Amino acid sequence: MDEVRIHRGLKEVYLDRTKSSYVDGKNGKLYYRGFNINELANNSSFEEVSYLLIHGKLPTKSELIQLTEWMSVRREIPSQIIDLISSIKHLHPMDVLRTAISTLSAYDKDLEDESIQTNIERGLSITAKAPTIVATHVRLRDGNDIIPPNKNLSHSANFLYMLFGQEPDDLDAKLIDKDLILHAEHGLNASSFTARVVASTQSDMYSAITAGVAALKGPAHGGAAEGVMKQAQDIGDESNTKEYVKDLLSSGGRIMGFGHRVYKTADPRALILKKDAKNLSERKGNPKWFSILQSLAECMEPYEKKGICENVDFWTGAIYNLLEIPDDIFVSIFALARIPGWTAQVTEQLDNNILIRPLLEYVGELDIPYIDIDER
Ligand code: CMC
Repeated sequence: MDEVRIHRGLKEVYLDRTKSSYVDGKNGKLYYRGFNINELANNSSFEEVSYLLIHGKLPTKSELIQLTEWMSVRREIPSQIIDLISSIKHLHPMDVLRTAISTLSAYDKDLEDESIQTNIERGLSITAKAPTIVATHVRLRDGNDIIPPNKNLSHSANFLYMLFGQEPDDLDAKLIDKDLILHAEHGLNASSFTARVVASTQSDMYSAITAGVAALKGPAHGGAAEGVMKQAQDIGDESNTKEYVKDLLSSGGRIMGFGHRVYKTADPRALILKKDAKNLSERKGNPKWFSILQSLAECMEPYEKKGICENVDFWTGAIYNLLEIPDDIFVSIFALARIPGWTAQVTEQLDNNILIRPLLEYVGELDIPYIDIDER
């Protein structure tokens, strides 16, 4: 057999070209369609960023109004999906989200239409509905009435409204909006890769996004924010942090919210969210979680030279916790933010499609004689 070079985990492999986002791991920078994430986080809205990612340009005022209205009237989910959520409400919110998104295809009257425009609309329609799925699940499993979406609220404010049953404080809604912007797109991460692989077989948008949700669920990808808060709760008090880190690392464990496949200096999203977590903890008069995470970050400073830095998930857990969002939907919030990114990448894939089909080097035996079952 020819000698082959193995790229385990596809580390440092370029699969294709993209204009969706640029993750500059060396310099700790992130761009969506050429715009620096800092500018977007401070000046834009999730709806505007969704437009930008999918259409490749910032919308005009009227284009943004049109998209915002289009999405706001697509927030409701079919009653059959509500029944489905109710029947599986004991599952993890990511399992419920994955199942509900997959089932949405049953209510798409144009399923045969595989045009790029229809696929974009599917992605945006799923983006509009995903917060309703997550909030409906939380309300049902907690024994509360469902709060129907309010089309007069922004995407982010409406999510908090459906979750808690009252219109959120503007600053809280703005913070969630910024958080969704920061999670919306991120190069060829595991879930976007998965969505692209599914799209490359000429499957459909529901399947690609469902697969993206499935890949995001794991703690090595989207599931870390929940783990970060679990760690903070286990630490309990700043004075325990040093011991906790020493014990965990010496037993081969990993500190959740640290490390990244691409960022080796700083994750720019974490730098933005750190300031927000600090401000929020002061605003809510609850400095405990910020202090514990700050002490954890200090203990991890020696690992910076090995390229192990705080990632986006490190501060999001504290922000969600201070906003009284249940721990087990942290990763679902990541998922509902990432749908425009998956949609943009699936569209890009379909625009210039090639079946994604890498190889595995076979290292097993060959020509093993077959032995009849009675003689084994
Ligand atoms: N804590 C302790 N050691 C770590 C950590 C960590 N969080 N992350 C990496 N390392 C060490 C690892 O043990 C290994 O050491 P050695 O070379 O001595 O064996 C070295 O760093 C390289 O690790 P790796 O797993 O080969 O690196 P990777 O690029 O494949 O890992 C990662 C990226 C995110 C899977 C990993 O850093 C990790 O497991 N982090 C914790 C989970 C986490 O926070 N995930 C959220 C990622 S950001 C959200 C997103 O964009 O998806």
